[in-house]
Amino acid sequence: MTLSPAFLDELRTRTSLSALVGRTLKLQKAGREWKACCPFHKEKTPSFYVNDEKGFWHCFGCAVHGDAIRWLTDARGLPFMDAVKELAEAAGMEVPAADPRAQEKAERAAGLHDVMEAAQRWFEDQLGGLEGGEARAYLERRGISDATRRRFGFGYAPDARGRLRAALRDLGDPMLVEAGLLIAPEGEREPYDRFRGRLTFPIRDRRGRTIAFSARILGAGEPKYLNSPDTPLFDKGRSLFNIDKAAAAARSAGRVIVVEGQMDVIALDQAGIGEAVAPLGTALTEAQLGLLWRLSPSPIVCFDGDSAGQKAAIRAALRALPQIGPDRSLGFVTLPAGQDPDDLVRAGGRAALEALLAAPEPLVDRLWKHELAAEPLATPEQRTGLRRRLLDHVSAIQDGDVRDQYRSELLDRFEGATRPPARPQPGRRDFVRGRFQPPPRPASAAAKAVGSLGLSPQVARAILSGLLLHPQVIAEHSEGVAGLAMPDSATRQLRDALLEAALLHGALDPERLHTILTGAGVAPLAEGLRGTRGLAFSFNRRDADPERASRDLVLVIDTLAAQPGLHAALEAATARLKETGDEAAFLEQQRLRAARDEGERRLAALIEGGAA
Ligand code: UTP
Ligand code: MN
Repeated sequence: MTLSPAFLDELRTRTSLSALVGRTLKLQKAGREWKACCPFHKEKTPSFYVNDEKGFWHCFGCAVHGDAIRWLTDARGLPFMDAVKELAEAAGMEVPAADPRAQEKAERAAGLHDVMEAAQRWFEDQLGGLEGGEARAYLERRGISDATRRRFGFGYAPDARGRLRAALRDLGDPMLVEAGLLIAPEGEREPYDRFRGRLTFPIRDRRGRTIAFSARILGAGEPKYLNSPDTPLFDKGRSLFNIDKAAAAARSAGRVIVVEGQMDVIALDQAGIGEAVAPLGTALTEAQLGLLWRLSPSPIVCFDGDSAGQKAAIRAALRALPQIGPDRSLGFVTLPAGQDPDDLVRAGGRAALEALLAAPEPLVDRLWKHELAAEPLATPEQRTGLRRRLLDHVSAIQDGDVRDQYRSELLDRFEGATRPPARPQPGRRDFVRGRFQPPPRPASAAAKAVGSLGLSPQVARAILSGLLLHPQVIAEHSEGVAGLAMPDSATRQLRDALLEAALLHGALDPERLHTILTGAGVAPLAEGLRGTRGLAFSFNRRDADPERASRDLVLVIDTLAAQPGLHAALEAATARLKETGDEAAFLEQQRLRAARDEGERRLAALIEGGAA
């Protein structure tokens, strides 16, 4: 029997590979992967790696390689179908019954892909053509560049009932109906074009193939967005807009962002944040969460600040709870009410959003605040209600250890919030002085090296040397590079020369870059970096794995670029806490502090990792 690729994909998505392999092997954390001594050959130091994000295991010693199914067949010796059944059962999925028409279905799907490509080309042609004027003007008004227009495949569906049908006549009505491009009315009436008088853009699958269209009305009118219906290619609850491009971007950025609207995704991409996806007008589903967790342990939910957006955020939190674990959670960023990410980057540029993204609120905080604000706590009944709602959420968590942590943390907060007023209140200000006092922070090497705001000369030089060795990073992360607070004029001058070289010449290799710098008269500054003793970042070592080194470099740049915003926000929150002493201010301050510390930890880890 043949199982569909979609089913097998889904099975892999829902399976935590490290948990599966971890049942047989003792795994150690290694960055974002896990490692162990390889079970397929004899060895003393681990070269067997498990990558949850990609859903693959691989041994660098003996080159064996496989996914969850291969693990069960090769390491545990199960027959293929038994392996599939075992995984399906654990993932709560039904193994589809043998389907004699599977082959035929697969062939039809292949045909539908061609239909979608043909429609996509036609829509694009219309946007470029005579009738596309209004749509082109709309894109221009929204500030969408030509490059973005091509990258996201914008098109135009003319305002008529039979234009697409006529243009794609050769493909036949039945295929066009099945692809969701035509609507077939009941009875004898003729099928007609679904998308009319709208700006179109494709929704693509993970491999970049067009599986559906989204279409926005140009003026006022309902509905604002019209999406393709579910078809054999498109299941909206299992698709995420921009997953094809965001997957790669998420890997290099080390994060993935979920926003509400497809146009938000596009605006972020144009602003340089490529790792954003959006659901398609529905609440986030379990399947979509599964896709997101393959890209990042803590996807950032960045929904609008209005009540609809905030409700959707809570719904996502509750949907995630059953599946959270040590490497599976969500972070939350709340936008100022009345602004979506598109508005925000248009008004304040990428930096405006980065400042918010730097300190996502953890799931536990979001849950707590939501329930705390839901009802007053004036009566014993109301307090019992809060306690019960919290415990209900706790019991939804399937991972026992995480469940215990949530229970004790939420009950602690509950005790703090409901202490009867007769007893001495932990006076509001005691949040600052009393039992909530955080332990003093040890001054880490990284914190010292980084300084509180600007870069230390040592770090600045380390980054510049890294950019000289890995110049392709300059063009790809020019905003981050431009945002670095350089400590002196020499480092600033060299940084600006690097940016200019990348701007004028695009992706560069180190040799060409050197030639350009010589031409610009700044080669001596670059040479000057050689003699200095650097930090032990991977990107300063010529023998480091280049992929890993550039990834580390990007991470350091992004982390440092976010640090000044975080410090400023933390100072403001601390001032607010001193003034009001209330718990919301306290929680906010804690969250920002944690984000800052996390940034410093990340830097410290990169320095140490580089030394290994
Ligand atoms: P919004 O109404 O917030 O739109 O809907 P937006 O993304 O800000 O769009 P612009 O900026 O006005 O163009 C958010 C998302 O909800 C879904 C779409 O997925 C949209 O991106 N939606 C909205 C629909 O599916 N249908 C609609 O009629 C409206
Ligand atoms: Mn919008």
